[in-house]
Amino acid sequence: MAVNMKGKDLVSIHDLSREEVEQILDTTHVLKMKQKLAEIYHPLKGKTLGMIFQKSSTRTRVSFEVGMFQLGGHALFLSANDLQLNRGETIADTARNLSRYLEGIMIRTFSHQDVVELAEYSSVPVINGLTDLLHPCQVLSDLFSIREKKQNLDGLKLVYIGDGNNMAHSLMFGGAKMGMHVVICSPSGFEPDPEITRLSRLDAANSGATITIQDDPRKAVNTADIIYTDVWASMGQEEEHEERLKSFSEYQVNRPLIENAKDDVLVMHCLPAHRGEEITDEVIDGPHSIVFDQAENRLHVQKAIMALVM
Ligand code: CP
Ligand code: NVA
Repeated sequence: MAVNMKGKDLVSIHDLSREEVEQILDTTHVLKMKQKLAEIYHPLKGKTLGMIFQKSSTRTRVSFEVGMFQLGGHALFLSANDLQLNRGETIADTARNLSRYLEGIMIRTFSHQDVVELAEYSSVPVINGLTDLLHPCQVLSDLFSIREKKQNLDGLKLVYIGDGNNMAHSLMFGGAKMGMHVVICSPSGFEPDPEITRLSRLDAANSGATITIQDDPRKAVNTADIIYTDVWASMGQEEEHEERLKSFSEYQVNRPLIENAKDDVLVMHCLPAHRGEEITDEVIDGPHSIVFDQAENRLHVQKAIMALVM
């Protein structure tokens, strides 16, 4: 039975039901097939998505804009620096105004609370394109990529090695929703947010998933189906980069590490990668890596999200 998601915001995977996540993944499959067959499909004809960016982006910006075009709609790039938001107009007033012109808003920003507030005051759906806390579109795309390769998600062991950041948090929420065993392996002082851990364990209790936090990469990857990593210093943490290189030096995803996992382990990274830091060239360009499939699937998953909510 299809779940009606029209008008729904996508701020966090924790807010979605398992049925809604499954519907996004199933719709993605259909839209990806249509695209591969060059079938014209314009469910969003005449609709416009505004895309507010307060941080840089390659994949998110291009995949949302191209996705909107392929669905027959239009996407508008709104640099936060050029909006009145930058001169003190409130988030609430920005939301009220943009809702009069647009059928959907995508936002990438620092404070997660800003996205929550934008969604609260907007009468059109708001899609989180990354905050300091979460990156739900990336993880929905990652769940789709894993399902494509492994056929299902239930019971798979996903080991994330690195900073307990927005990616770690959304992987915890996504894995918990879908019955996966998520292990977050971070150095002391860089563990995930305790509230995200608590909430993801609530979801895990319903799905049969487990959420484990530990600090030994070699032990963590034992029997892993998926090894995931991300940059050690996220956007906004550039000045901590040098210091973090020291803290994370034992947390690199390299060949000796992946040899401890299953023979058919998938290696994943949301990108952009800092090659030679969190992951070696040999591994990111090697046979286990699916990083560019992940990047492609951003397009298909976000088209599904927009077609379902807008
Ligand atoms: N993975 C991701 O969100 O990439 P961008 O920062 O390039 O959008
Ligand atoms: N953790 C990274 C993810 C980039 C897609 C960042 O926030 O910069």
